[in-house]
Amino acid sequence: MSEDNKYHKGQLIEDHDFDGIQELDNPPPPWLMYLFYVSVLFAVGYFIYYHMTDAGPNQVEELQQEMAIVAKAEAKRIADAPPAATTASTDAADLEAGKILYSEKACFACHGMNGEGNAIGPNVTDNSWINGCDFTDVIKIIKNGVPAKGMTAYKDQLNQKQTEQIASYVMSLVGSNPANAKEAQGVICE
Ligand code: HEC
Repeated sequence: MSEDNKYHKGQLIEDHDFDGIQELDNPPPPWLMYLFYVSVLFAVGYFIYYHMTDAGPNQVEELQQEMAIVAKAEAKRIADAPPAATTASTDAADLEAGKILYSEKACFACHGMNGEGNAIGPNVTDNSWINGCDFTDVIKIIKNGVPAKGMTAYKDQLNQKQTEQIASYVMSLVGSNPANAKEAQGVICE
């Protein structure tokens, strides 16, 4: 018998002796046992609630419930959003916001400080447009860009309102006749 076992002699399980290997009766502390019992009870309740009676939602149903909430919120967001503008704003605050965005988003790098155009981008102050003359055409260009020709797509950088403001600002420049204006490109619009 080892030194260790001598001290636990009273707790030895008498008939658990296999080839001289003995077993101590060494139960876990009560708090651990209670925790165990509670978890067993919980598991029974869980099984009945979720699996036998189907009272609780399973994971798929939970996902569906959450997706329904998201869909509802999205529908509300769309319903509440102001309709996309189809004409340029002439509101001074919008034009000012558009002007700030024009410099913040560095549109001037390719279209010039005053929209006069440069070696990269076209003049946006004349009445000839490569991609269409309507406000909605300008909106489309700013959103989707013309990557092949070097015009960046801004749909991830500008929200609808900002896009409308910057487009309104650009269109307000038409006829402003800035210095160093680049020659007309595209189709002349009236
Ligand atoms: C990296 C250069 C570059 C930057 C930055 C840039 N553009 Fe452009 N943009 C271009 C080029 C090049 C075109 C011409 C595309 C084509 O030929 O179809 C263009 C075209 C346009 C057009 C259409 C012009 C037309 O005649 O049809 C508008 C409007 C416009 N850009 C607005 C903007 C605004 C607003 C910004 C900033 C948010 C901006 N661009 C930033 C290069 C740029």
